Amino acid sequence: MSMLLDTLWSVARPVLFRMDAEDAHRTTLHQMARHTVLARAALSALSRSAPSRPVDLAGLKLDNPLGLAAGLDKDAEALPVWPALGFGFVEVGTVTPRPQLGNPRPRLFRLPKERALINRMGFNNAGVEAMRARMDALRNADRWPSVPVGANIGKNKDTPNAEAERDYEACARSLRDLIDYFTINVSSPNTPGLRELQAPDRLHSLLSTVLEAAHDRPVFLKLAPDLEPEAMQEAVEVAVAAGCSGIIATNTTISRPGKTGRSGENGGLSGAPLWPLARSRIHVALAAADRRVPVIGVGGVDSAARAQELLDAGCTAVQLYSALIFHGPGLPGTILSGLSRPKLAHRVP
Ligand SMILES: Cc1cc2nc3c(=O)[nH]c(=O)nc-3n(C[C@H](O)[C@H](O)[C@H](O)COP(=O)(O)O)c2cc1C
Repeated sequence: MSMLLDTLWSVARPVLFRMDAEDAHRTTLHQMARHTVLARAALSALSRSAPSRPVDLAGLKLDNPLGLAAGLDKDAEALPVWPALGFGFVEVGTVTPRPQLGNPRPRLFRLPKERALINRMGFNNAGVEAMRARMDALRNADRWPSVPVGANIGKNKDTPNAEAERDYEACARSLRDLIDYFTINVSSPNTPGLRELQAPDRLHSLLSTVLEAAHDRPVFLKLAPDLEPEAMQEAVEVAVAAGCSGIIATNTTISRPGKTGRSGENGGLSGAPLWPLARSRIHVALAAADRRVPVIGVGGVDSAARAQELLDAGCTAVQLYSALIFHGPGLPGTILSGLSRPKLAHRVP
């Protein structure tokens, strides 16, 4: 099934890996965004042999529990392509109310030996109105994906934390009639002060505001792996009490586990070296959530074995980003083919 994709990838990867990481990313996304209906149908046919594994994620009906993590398609440019690769749900963003350029380049670094990325993008995005317009156009052109789509929302860099709620609220209001769920991002290390919003008092107020603005859309909270276990427990407790529909654990880490190259670059580390830390924090989140809300596990997932481990531990779904950069577009199909049947709560038998 994914043999053709893997062959194409073995040709494309060396070319892309010779390019600057962000240029390679932009080029690939641009190509994917321009995909013709025919190309998408071909891709979809290629990845279709992966068996479906239905999951109920906070009321969202997923065909399978593997999702695209936020940050890869920040502006929803290639939305129709992700389900064709096999993803059961897609998270776009982080989007902010106003467009912003993000940090100066270079700001994305590949660590091929470690199969890791370090990024300090800083929420570069075209703003929520541009995302809304793009989504409207997709819907009008009948190109809206068949899988649930979530919007990961954040605040502009120049919005002080004291006014952050208004930014999240504006994003939620703008997109609520278009998307299936929201993720509140208070865990990116690349917007100064953002992670302070994970503190319980601030978090409660922020969540209440977004939940109201989101109407009936499920709202997930995405947390940082750098939270100490007690702080993560507390954040999960606040999220459950406020009425959040789920927890996404985890974002990138500012720590440098293992011997990573480019350790001196500031930013968030993702990919294989994040796995041990993410896994331990996912377990903290699962214990704290205690099945009251689903947990979506993310961080270093690059194989069916790792995805399966998180599902067996009680995660309702998993997401990935970095592994796609190193293993290519055949990865979702490979992972899905290697998963066993669901057997835990939160998943449809
Ligand atoms: C270049 C890059 C940009 C990212 N941007 C975002 C973002 O805008 N919002 C967000 O919530 N997470 C963002 N992430 C974090 C991922 O969604 C994910 O939580 C993290 O990379 C761990 O998963 P992975 O090891 O599978 O990549 C980004 C990650 C990378 C590598």
